[in-house]
Amino acid sequence: GLKPIIAVNYKAYHPHSFGENALRIARDARRVWEETGVEIILAPPFTEIHRVLKEVEGSGVKVFAQHADPVEPGAVTGYIPVEGLKEAGVQGVILNHSEHRLKIADINMLIAKARRLGLKTLACADVPETGAAIALLKPDMIAVEPPELIGTGVSVSKAKPEVITNSVSMIRSVNKEVLILTGAGITTGEDVYQAIKLGTIGVLVASGIVKAKDPYSVMKDMALNALKALA
Ligand code: G3P
Repeated sequence: GLKPIIAVNYKAYHPHSFGENALRIARDARRVWEETGVEIILAPPFTEIHRVLKEVEGSGVKVFAQHADPVEPGAVTGYIPVEGLKEAGVQGVILNHSEHRLKIADINMLIAKARRLGLKTLACADVPETGAAIALLKPDMIAVEPPELIGTGVSVSKAKPEVITNSVSMIRSVNKEVLILTGAGITTGEDVYQAIKLGTIGVLVASGIVKAKDPYSVMKDMALNALKALA
C-alpha cells in the first residue's frame, strides 16, 4: 500500500539546522522510521549533507538537498549543479521552494537532469494552479505551500483546507502519478492527519520540527497520525 511521507526542510535556522543539532534531528528521524516505517525525507543545508547522510546510513531515511542551481558543472562559483548533489550522495532535491524560486524553464531542465542522474525531485508550488503547471513537468513529488502561512505555526490544513483539495484535483487532472504533499505551518500530528484526509500523501515541514524542543516526539506524533489517516 501507499506509505505516508514526512519531509523535513531544515532551512537555515541557527543553531537548529546546523552541526550537532542537525545530527540530532537525523538520529530522531532514524528512530521514528525504525518505530513506524513512515517515509522520512531530510533536507539539511548543503554543508550538513555529508554528516546527515552518515547518521542515517543503512536506514530508510532519505536525504535531499534544499535546492539545485540551473547550471552545468564548471566555472560557476558558489552554484550547485545537480551533478554535485549526486556526487554528495543525496537521493533527491527540493526545487522551487518559495524561499528559493526558479523559472519554469529551469525547473523543467532540473527535473529532467535529476531524472537522468537517478535523483528524485520534490518541486514546490505556492498555489494549486502553479502546482498543476509544475505537475506537467513530471517531478516525483509536488508540495503546495501557501507562502503566507510558512513559518507561522498556523497550518494550511486548518486555515486553508481548500488549497489542499484544489491542489489535489488540479494536479490530478494533469498527472496521475506524482506524489502530492502540502506544507506551511504544519506543527502537530493533527495537522498531518488532516492534510492526508484532504487527499495528500504527506507533508513538508520546517519550523514545527526543526525548532521544536523535542523533534523526536513531534516527528513520532506526526508519523503515527499519518498512518492513522491512511489506515
Ligand atoms: O518547506 C517547508 C516550509 O516552507 C514550511 O515551513 O516552518 O511553516 O513548516 P514551516
